[in-house]
Amino acid sequence: MRAVIKGIEASLPEYILTNAEIEKLVDTSDEWIRERTGIVERRILKQDGLGTSEMGADAVRKLLAATGTKPEEVDMLVCATVTPDMQFPATANIISDKVGIKNAWGFDVNAGCCGFIYSFSTVDALVRAGRAKKVVLVCGERMSGITDYTDRNTCPLFGDAAVAMLIEPTDSPDEGLVDYENHVDGIGRHYLYQKAGGSMYPASAETVARREHYIIQDGKTVFKYAVSNMADVSVAMMARHGLKPDDIAYLIPHQANLRILSATGHRMGLSDDKILVNIEHLGNTAGTSIPLVLWEFRDRFKRGDNLIISAFGAGFTWGAMYYKWGL
Ligand code: UT7
Repeated sequence: MRAVIKGIEASLPEYILTNAEIEKLVDTSDEWIRERTGIVERRILKQDGLGTSEMGADAVRKLLAATGTKPEEVDMLVCATVTPDMQFPATANIISDKVGIKNAWGFDVNAGCCGFIYSFSTVDALVRAGRAKKVVLVCGERMSGITDYTDRNTCPLFGDAAVAMLIEPTDSPDEGLVDYENHVDGIGRHYLYQKAGGSMYPASAETVARREHYIIQDGKTVFKYAVSNMADVSVAMMARHGLKPDDIAYLIPHQANLRILSATGHRMGLSDDKILVNIEHLGNTAGTSIPLVLWEFRDRFKRGDNLIISAFGAGFTWGAMYYKWGL
């Protein structure tokens, strides 16, 4: 028994924030952003008073309709996010309420850009144990709510979106989550974080004045850790299962930076056509970026295709999955 994705739907905010508009906010250029990151535009949830749950609930409603699932059949709803609506209650609970899921329990997973791989690994364990049979997994971020649009080091990078997936048990060897390997190294807390608003530095007039409620990133250091760790863990996953480049249909990498995800794919011996990318029009949506790629390219996959999924993010967290497409 293992977990398999049996439905996937996305919610993208309408507003498109272009590089041209970012050029008006900070001292940067379209050329610099494209060359250094691969990003051309990103979606932003503009309206005040709407959080991650707005997009998450929209994605779940589409998922329930597309899969013919009744809200009362769902036994668990998990939400991976670093931009919860509020510190508490969990955004998973808020989404459940908005969509009428009443017979489920759930929680949020805070794993930075590894939101999808950490939460899917957790759900897989419950599915294998027979304790969860119809799980809705939501990955959602309103990154624009914690992005400092006066900081050129970070504001070109991030976008907003949510994806909802229906996860069920399968006993078929041709589909589902075969294996995963996850890691954490707390040294990352010095290089990528949101300083204030938690219990260590509660919100105050001073924390707001010092702009400490926004993402702070030492990009160069994060880049170095990301390049080596994402490639190492992906190559290790191939070795563990005796997978050669020809055995892999696609690499689904976290969309942080085109240079990082290309380097990972090339270390695995993959040609560019096997490295799936949508960073150019969606930017870095943290833990949502991998399911956004799965959703966007879903018609390209065949049941049983071998996918390697790989991510690196705040924490530091990183990991890789060996997944067989099951739709
Ligand atoms: O998703 C979670 C994990 N996050 C990541 O994986 C992100 C990893 N890091 C990165 O993707 C890259 O480090 C960035 C895209 C954030 C930055 O690219 P970089 O090539 O590492 O640039 P840098 O930070 O080394 O900066 C190089 C230069 C600096 O100028 P000096 O000091 O050489 O004069 C920066 O001030 O580029 C400057 N710079 C910019 N220039 C124009 C930084 N941001 C910008 C900008 N426009 N937006």
